[in-house]
Amino acid sequence: MNRVVHHPFFRRWPRRPWIIAHRGASGLVPENTLTAFVLAAEQGADFVELDLRITRDGHLVVCHDATLERTTDGRGFVHEHTLAELQRLDAGYAFTLDRGVTYPFRGLGLRIPSFEEVIAALPSHIGIDAEVKSAPWDPADRRRGQAIAERLVALVRARPELRERLLISSFDTAVLDTVRARDPELPVGLCTIPLAPLPEQLRSTIECGYDAFHPMDVGFDEHGAAVVASAYLAGLVVNVWTVDAPDRAVELAALGVDGIITDYPEATRQAIERALNRQRPTGLATTR
Ligand code: G3P
Ligand code: CA
Repeated sequence: MNRVVHHPFFRRWPRRPWIIAHRGASGLVPENTLTAFVLAAEQGADFVELDLRITRDGHLVVCHDATLERTTDGRGFVHEHTLAELQRLDAGYAFTLDRGVTYPFRGLGLRIPSFEEVIAALPSHIGIDAEVKSAPWDPADRRRGQAIAERLVALVRARPELRERLLISSFDTAVLDTVRARDPELPVGLCTIPLAPLPEQLRSTIECGYDAFHPMDVGFDEHGAAVVASAYLAGLVVNVWTVDAPDRAVELAALGVDGIITDYPEATRQAIERALNRQRPTGLATTR
């Protein structure tokens, strides 16, 4: 299927679907750590997805929650700590693969990374889907999200090579519009949850003029084919989250989604390649 147009950024990754490692290879090692991102790269991810927050002293750090308790041995809000304070915490503290019988990453020195540390740790062929965390219902948090957006734009201005690597996403349109207003060339994607049916989520994303649509994996069985076709015609890419069952990733790949956001990049890649190999004699292409 031919697209009308899509952002030139995405041409760097012609092979579809992209494997986008959600918080790194976070099904296997502690999320949003350098360990998770480096492992994702080693496992063949095309992109890593990560969550950005801002510290009390204005640094960008990679942490999903607004607070520290779920993933670290710290307490309180991320934005109330300095970078130095955050980096004294153990970001492997809470990770367990056996429901709390063991915590194999405790005390190994895993830290909350700064965004710049993640950029430096990854090979330049790996794309970065930087999700700016912002709670639109909380004016102060939204201002923090917009401040993150401004810092990202400034970072790209200082380091133009990052344009080749950086997709900015958010659930908050105010964040994406801040990016757009300051740097209309940067690719931006809207993350959505199924408050409205999938076609309506896509319609809003198109109306906002964004480059990528990042829906949750809900509604694809009913609407997936039509939504993917409409997105292509509008020039948007479709990256679906969070898809951890390999068989489901294969189904979404068959629907033609552009990216699979998953906690298990290697298993997802392998499942899709196995399915493609099975179909190859009938002429199925690996890319669109
Ligand atoms: O990229 C979308 C996905 O990461 C959103 O969910 O909660 O994992 O940040 P969450
Ligand atoms: Ca995220």
